[in-house]
Amino acid sequence: LGNGLAQTPQMGWNSWNFFRCGIHETVIRETADALVTTGLAKLGYVYVNIDDCWSELVRNSEGDMVPDSKAFPSGIKALADYVHSKGLKIGIYSDAGLYTCQVRPGSLKHENDDATLFASWGIDYLKYDNCFNLGIDPKERYPLMRDALNATGRTIFYSLCEWGLDDPALWASKIGNSWRTTKDIKDTWESMTAIADINDKWAAYAGPGGWNDPDMLEVGNGGMTNQEYRSHFSIWALMKAPLIIGCDVRNMTAETYEILTNEEVISVNQDPLGVQGRKVYTYGPDGCYQIWAGPLSGERTVFVLWNRCSEAATITAKWDTMGLESSTNASHEYVSLCSTNSFSAKVEAHASEMFVLALAAAAASAA
Ligand code: DGJ
Repeated sequence: LGNGLAQTPQMGWNSWNFFRCGIHETVIRETADALVTTGLAKLGYVYVNIDDCWSELVRNSEGDMVPDSKAFPSGIKALADYVHSKGLKIGIYSDAGLYTCQVRPGSLKHENDDATLFASWGIDYLKYDNCFNLGIDPKERYPLMRDALNATGRTIFYSLCEWGLDDPALWASKIGNSWRTTKDIKDTWESMTAIADINDKWAAYAGPGGWNDPDMLEVGNGGMTNQEYRSHFSIWALMKAPLIIGCDVRNMTAETYEILTNEEVISVNQDPLGVQGRKVYTYGPDGCYQIWAGPLSGERTVFVLWNRCSEAATITAKWDTMGLESSTNASHEYVSLCSTNSFSAKVEAHASEMFVLALAAAAASAA
């Protein structure tokens, strides 16, 4: 979407994966505080996004949505002011249907009023869900809110949450800044790997302004091992997925913090070239030795050796499977490789290792 946003994938936090409907303005405030005090905000995690269940079950007599009086007694405007005072941005959630998935009022047929209300509160980001949609074509429903947001005069990130049902990658780039390509992620290895594979199919359609969204991060929520979470984070980064943290950032373990703050991995995600990396080669039992790779700015290439088998293994990436000439004389950014056509490393079960290659010519010209 040409609203100037999403030149790189959005980064931030969202309440759903950890808190579900158990949200409260205190949680949101403390999350904003934690993003700043932990240094996550400085690394780019700036959106503080409230998901479903923020509103009362019915609109008021003027037809406006009303923040849940128990969960958000001070209202969303006061919360937005607080989040902004921390140098962060605030996101909210609605639905392109009669109700949200948790049966709060939806915005279908109320697009202009709701967008105006959100803008008056100072909202910076809207996640727009797909429940109770009356079977109306999403290609009709989603542009209505785009136009309503645009008409407010406030620049608002527009995140489509259509769950990939109608192949949004094919049509959403002129409608939203990102579009979900899959159903909801679960905090399991099986869900995370399956979603990565689905999102991979749509790589060609992502780029600055609009990104494929394989759903929010589960890192730190406890259902996967730290090696699995490392793989989740690395592959999401390489796929130019939105990096929306889904755990309780007020109570992170050291391992969770280390994964989410890996600056080299984040810089792969935020690379200005904005090309989604792909699964380029698989081999071994059921194809569980995998090479995922993609181009970066400055004539560099990122690749991930991902071991989806249940035993540790040495995985080899051959340059010719990554779109590099097999004779490429590549040098690792930090270690000189000398090897002419491949690179191997031992990778633990379900773990991944990420590397960035700078082509020799580019490295020389930069020197
Ligand atoms: C479905 C979405 O895909 C989830 O991310 C979350 O927003 C829930 N709805 C909330 O009800």
